[in-house]
Amino acid sequence: MSLPTINPTSTNAWSKLQDHYNKVNNLHMKDLFAQDKERANKLTIKWDDFYVDFSKNRITEETFKYLLELADDVKLKEAIQSQFSGEKINQTEGRAVLHTALRAPETAIVNVDGENVIPEVYNVKRKIEAFTNEVVSGDRKGFTGKPFTHVVNIGIGGSDLGPAMVVDSLQFYKNHLTTYFVSNIDGDHVNEVIKKLDPETTLFVVVSKTFTTQETLSNANTIKDWFLQSASEKDIAKHFVAVSTNIDAVKGFGIDPNNIFPMWDWVGGRFSLWSAVGLSISLAVGYENYASLLEGAHKMDEHFKSEDFESNIPVVLGLISIWYNNFFKAESEAVIAYSQYLNQFATYLQQGIMESNGKSVDRNGNPIDYDTGTLIWGEPGTNSQHAFFQLIHQGTKLIPADFIGFAKSLHGNQDHQDKLTSNFLAQTEALLNGKTEGQVVAEGTKSGIVPFKIFEGNKPTNTIYIDKLTPESLGKLIAMYEHKIFVQGVIWNIFSYDQFGVELGKQLASKILKEFNCSDIAEHDSSTSNLLNHYKSMK
Ligand code: F6P
Repeated sequence: MSLPTINPTSTNAWSKLQDHYNKVNNLHMKDLFAQDKERANKLTIKWDDFYVDFSKNRITEETFKYLLELADDVKLKEAIQSQFSGEKINQTEGRAVLHTALRAPETAIVNVDGENVIPEVYNVKRKIEAFTNEVVSGDRKGFTGKPFTHVVNIGIGGSDLGPAMVVDSLQFYKNHLTTYFVSNIDGDHVNEVIKKLDPETTLFVVVSKTFTTQETLSNANTIKDWFLQSASEKDIAKHFVAVSTNIDAVKGFGIDPNNIFPMWDWVGGRFSLWSAVGLSISLAVGYENYASLLEGAHKMDEHFKSEDFESNIPVVLGLISIWYNNFFKAESEAVIAYSQYLNQFATYLQQGIMESNGKSVDRNGNPIDYDTGTLIWGEPGTNSQHAFFQLIHQGTKLIPADFIGFAKSLHGNQDHQDKLTSNFLAQTEALLNGKTEGQVVAEGTKSGIVPFKIFEGNKPTNTIYIDKLTPESLGKLIAMYEHKIFVQGVIWNIFSYDQFGVELGKQLASKILKEFNCSDIAEHDSSTSNLLNHYKSMK
């Protein structure tokens, strides 16, 4: 069975939402809170160690009801079922979408083309575990007999962003291995990392689902050449491992077949950190922590699959986001984590969200005449308060924001934690209530300055409050956003799991690359021709 192909704008719920929007779009959340003392309790979901308060949104009970109807009208329940059961819902690439199978228990049965994939998943997990233990314990050694001290992940996109974000986020749980990530084709990136490495004690993990990606292969070759200045060809087997579906290409690169960690075409690149693509995570924080990360994601999968929509966190967050994107025409969403550990979280989400849902053709192949995709951006609080919060508070744009916080700090500095938390709570309160002219005047503000100090408020936020940052809670958080992406893709009637939009630039780059070394320049627009010639003259 394929995903339903319902144009959301043709549903009853959409029409109701449109009429309703025209009536409620000017309501102030302040009044909604004043009218209903139970509002926060009604619009909060408590699940496991997650406390998700979505009451500070420009929604009424009626809005919520229509949004839930929209989920029913587009057959979201059936779509979730199709995804989890291994149906080929990535229709444009003819693939199942089963990152959820990577974190399912060993007893689960998930069939792809009639074959249960779980035993194979667990074979690879055991290989990751054994390899991790050997490297971390120092039993596995480099070509001069020294244990490994550094690990370098070579990959890009989903083969980089997920592992890099998780390793950074879980640095509190890190072992003695130093981990670097090389991704950019910019040679200055790889060379800056090489500067810090000792070939005798560095392990290289080359991660590429396709093993054809220009950046990854170029970086891997540059590193291999550097390595061979100190070692011989046979030593590659000790220092290079690969994660890929393209076993032949990995062998062609010279990596020992025993050092290949397979993955499958039913794992999308941007959802792949749960596969062997997460090898660097396992090496950095140990297999047990890596397994907890997966366990957390699995718990969120179960919640998503079985919880009623009205208390289903990814569903509710997805619906609210649709409300702003499609009715309020909000152009972007911010993700503000009040944890420096989540420094790379928004960057990671950008690929997940924008590569998945940045589409303008629907599942029937027709051009779309409603908004899809959301522009995602963000930085941790409190730093971001001193950077771009001015615009969120007093700018002209509506920017719905997710505030993510952890009740307990990892290092236990209560003074800092209290201050961090006071900011976390204060910002969403300020965004909700704003500050009226009366309040500004009462503060004794000079009359000519008053208008500049007014905050209209009514800026929507979700508060995702988690007990503590652990591998398990991080797994839940990532999976929560993965499912939100799915919910929105289903509603927008788009295919969320292909990424043809990244191809055109790649094709043109390979044509232009050839033109750098020949006099024959193909037809380009005059701007590109000039720039190309300018580069050639500077080389
Ligand atoms: O840029 C597109 C993309 O295909 C991403 O979806 C993917 O995560 C990345 O490139 C890397 O691909 P690979 O793992 O095949 O090297």
